[in-house]
Amino acid sequence: MLTIDKVSKVYSTPRGDLPILDGVSLTLERGQAAAIMGPSGSGKSTLLYILGALDPPSSGTVTLDSTNPYALNERDQAAFRNQHVGFVFQDHSLLPQCSVLENVLTPTLVAPAGQKNGVADEKQARRILEQVGLANRLDHRPGELSGGEKQRAAIARALIRNPTLLLCDEPTGNLDASIADSVADLLLDLHAANNTILLVVTHSATLAERFPSRYRVADRALVSA
Ligand SMILES: Nc1ncnc2c1ncn2[C@@H]1O[C@H](COP(=O)(O)OP(=O)(O)O)[C@@H](O)[C@H]1O
Ligand SMILES: [Mg+2]
Repeated sequence: MLTIDKVSKVYSTPRGDLPILDGVSLTLERGQAAAIMGPSGSGKSTLLYILGALDPPSSGTVTLDSTNPYALNERDQAAFRNQHVGFVFQDHSLLPQCSVLENVLTPTLVAPAGQKNGVADEKQARRILEQVGLANRLDHRPGELSGGEKQRAAIARALIRNPTLLLCDEPTGNLDASIADSVADLLLDLHAANNTILLVVTHSATLAERFPSRYRVADRALVSA
């Protein structure tokens, strides 16, 4: 279960404090999937980073299966992210010099000792890449993939450690409508198969409609949409 309780975020800037989120609360159970919408600059990415143990809230708490990642020391927090959180960025953030297979394996390389198994990890990577339709692109570099294929590879990388929480920041933002639709199909299929908590930030009302629940970030609050 993912719980955020009265989370606020204020960025300190040279021009003063910039409040972005104010008293945001949300609970999602395993197996739930939700879309998050809202205008550009409203704080959607900020919220996703807070949820993904990537950036601490200014106040309030985040709990995933009874662990508050921000109460952990830096090393344990990194291990927590590696083990429990999959993150898909809008621009995919694949390593350009590495093959698709190597990109998908990167989270396993930094996994805590005892959770690594080279042979099993590679088998798992190949299995996931098959699931996302990239079985025949294992040796391609990201530059040799289409936009939709890059996002599929980024999704595979986010799933390699079998995360509890899958966070996607406008994963289809740069894709044509039909490709975006197939990436959304993939996310929802994988979600159904893996019993994750899935949160997808999107600008697209069409994409948001496909999720069982929807939220909107507006005026520093998170409201049901
Ligand atoms: N590190 C930062 N320092 C200062 N302001 C930031 C920082 N990150 C984001 N912001 C500001 O916070 C607001 C929300 O950003 P963001 O969460 O990226 O919005 P969204 O994803 O909804 O477009 C924006 O006005 C942005 O300029
Ligand atoms: Mg954003």
